[in-house]
Amino acid sequence: MRQTLKVKIDDTNEYMIDISDSSFEELNKEIYEYTRTQKRLVVMSKKVYKLYSQDLNFSDEEIFILPDGEREKNYKNYLKIMHRAFELGLTRQDVIIAVGGGVVGDIAGFAASTYMRGIDFIQIPTTLLAAVDSSVGGKTAIDLDFSKNIIGTFYQPKKVFININFLKTLDNKQFMSGLGEVLKYAFIEENCGYDSQFFLFEYLTLCCDKLLNKEPLTLIRVIEYCLNLKASVVSKDEKEAGLRKILNLGHTLGHALETVTKYNKFTHGQAVVYGIFFVLEWAYKHEYITYSYYKLSQELLTKYGFSPLKMTFNPDKLIEVMKKDKKSDSENITLIVPCNKKCVKEIKLTPIDMEYALKP
Ligand code: GLY
Repeated sequence: MRQTLKVKIDDTNEYMIDISDSSFEELNKEIYEYTRTQKRLVVMSKKVYKLYSQDLNFSDEEIFILPDGEREKNYKNYLKIMHRAFELGLTRQDVIIAVGGGVVGDIAGFAASTYMRGIDFIQIPTTLLAAVDSSVGGKTAIDLDFSKNIIGTFYQPKKVFININFLKTLDNKQFMSGLGEVLKYAFIEENCGYDSQFFLFEYLTLCCDKLLNKEPLTLIRVIEYCLNLKASVVSKDEKEAGLRKILNLGHTLGHALETVTKYNKFTHGQAVVYGIFFVLEWAYKHEYITYSYYKLSQELLTKYGFSPLKMTFNPDKLIEVMKKDKKSDSENITLIVPCNKKCVKEIKLTPIDMEYALKP
């Protein structure tokens, strides 16, 4: 099965996303067709290299292996990638390909956007998280020690190949992390401006078992729908001046939790789901949403095995990080909160209000 969708940024910038369960042989052919006139630098995660380098037709010479983990998304690795591109003799006509999860996609995309002021970039996400979120929409970045994605660009890929066969070897923790981002879309569906007869919130409620069992058709359908929502948002607001901020539902607290735990306690999706539980609670307490929607929402998250965070963290530390978030201004913390069924809005909280909200 194959689904193809388009992300249209403007009249001169659009690209296609393929989502399929085709064989690796087929994928190799497609990549070859797409890049046959180009020199390639392939940035691949170490885990993916071990599992799939035999299945993928890239020569060892063109592969740069990136060790796994968020902490590898740093300027030292960025510079190594740039050196490698230069050694391979890549020019403006050539391409950088990311094969891996969000970390690989972000750093390779940042390298592609800055090498010779920008060369072609192809995303081949191998995790659910990267497939439904980071491989699409053009956010590229590297981190500084205490600030995630603080150096980066908006730079759209030329093409995204999503092959769900990669997800077969994804461990449960990483799969659940991707589901965290999938669930996020259920709460923002109405804001996205994507006209469809498909209803994610209800579908996720009904098809939980199939999705948890990685049933291929269900996976493809869910990935396709999430990306249609994302494409709709990004085409209206590529640079996150307004609407795109809704994609950060759950991320204000989520990023803060990841940062204070130095990225080694929670996966990204798990941290985002803690953030979603938190804003649901906040929205219900402040009468932004009804009790029945609050309950349905909590039930959806718990059906997938998630539960609210037990607050054992120092709120001051979390607030310190939230104040430095790119979306906050110098005084206030920006929070995306549910304001209706499947609908969210942006609010600003003072650090004191946030401290109060974080109290158990
Ligand atoms: N991951 C959020 C965005 O792409 O805007």
